[in-house]
Amino acid sequence: MTKIFITRDIPDEGIKMLRKRKSIKLDIYEKDRKIPRRELLKRVKGCNVILSILTEKMDAQVMDAAGPQLKMIANYAVGFNNVDLDAAKDRGIVVTNAPGPEIVESVAEHAVGLIFALTHRIVETDTFTRAGKYKGWGPKLLLGTDVVGKTLGVIGTGQIGTGLVKRMHDGFGVKIIYNDIKRNPDLEKKYKAKYRSKMQLLREADIVSLHVPLLDSTHHLISTKELKAMKRTAFIINTSRGPIIDETALVKALTKGDIAGAGLDVYECEPLIDCNPKDNYQLRSLPNVVLTPHTASATVETRQAMSRTAAKNILAFLDGKRPPNKVTS
Ligand code: DGY
Repeated sequence: MTKIFITRDIPDEGIKMLRKRKSIKLDIYEKDRKIPRRELLKRVKGCNVILSILTEKMDAQVMDAAGPQLKMIANYAVGFNNVDLDAAKDRGIVVTNAPGPEIVESVAEHAVGLIFALTHRIVETDTFTRAGKYKGWGPKLLLGTDVVGKTLGVIGTGQIGTGLVKRMHDGFGVKIIYNDIKRNPDLEKKYKAKYRSKMQLLREADIVSLHVPLLDSTHHLISTKELKAMKRTAFIINTSRGPIIDETALVKALTKGDIAGAGLDVYECEPLIDCNPKDNYQLRSLPNVVLTPHTASATVETRQAMSRTAAKNILAFLDGKRPPNKVTS
């Protein structure tokens, strides 16, 4: 019998796939909230596979609490910064993530949504209208900025970054500049994208969108110097991981008007929206930000696809095959 612990209830399609196997015994944390750490350490004991959610730290302590029979951690996310890969490797534990075309589509769509929410001031104007402040059409009322013809700077041109480039280039005629660890000839050919150093991209772009994984090398990739390099009229979008932006520096830049606005789906001290809730600089009080609660991939289609992907990885592993989304070597 293979014992699988699922750290939080997920959309059901993957669960159904796992349930079909008679040799699998599933244990699912029953509450729709983050499992308390102590409970997690208790519940993983004796399991062979953990299907984890990105809010759970899968570190050496969890792996040891599970025991030496733990052979796989299937992460229900594209990002896997919550899993200690070195600790997993040391213990011979295979780690997988849950990418796929659906998540690419929905996160790219969400980034487009944030861009337009900012440039057309959708959230601000909605708040204004609901507050009963609309007293009649005005030629200077709540002016935004067009996207057409502007320059989009994409940092990180994996599948999601490319998905955004495709939409913005094909749909809205924006010019594309990009930065990545290496040149992306496909992007250059298909979308006439021009490679730039990070600092050059920040100086040129009207909209900057971040699509890199969280690594030591990308932590605070955007901080004071980078924000100061941006145009005062530029916007920044982050749908990747919060700590890629130094949030204190971002709030200062937004408050001082060094940049025009930010669209954020992820936060440095998530689930806190401000790392220091008592600080004077508070993201939530700024009108020029649009904030979503890490929901860029939160569509029924995508969350079901991620559930199927996690299950496929587990089933392949149990069949002695290489899981399609193995992230450990
Ligand atoms: C991911 O998959 O990494 C997203 O951030 C959550 O869906």
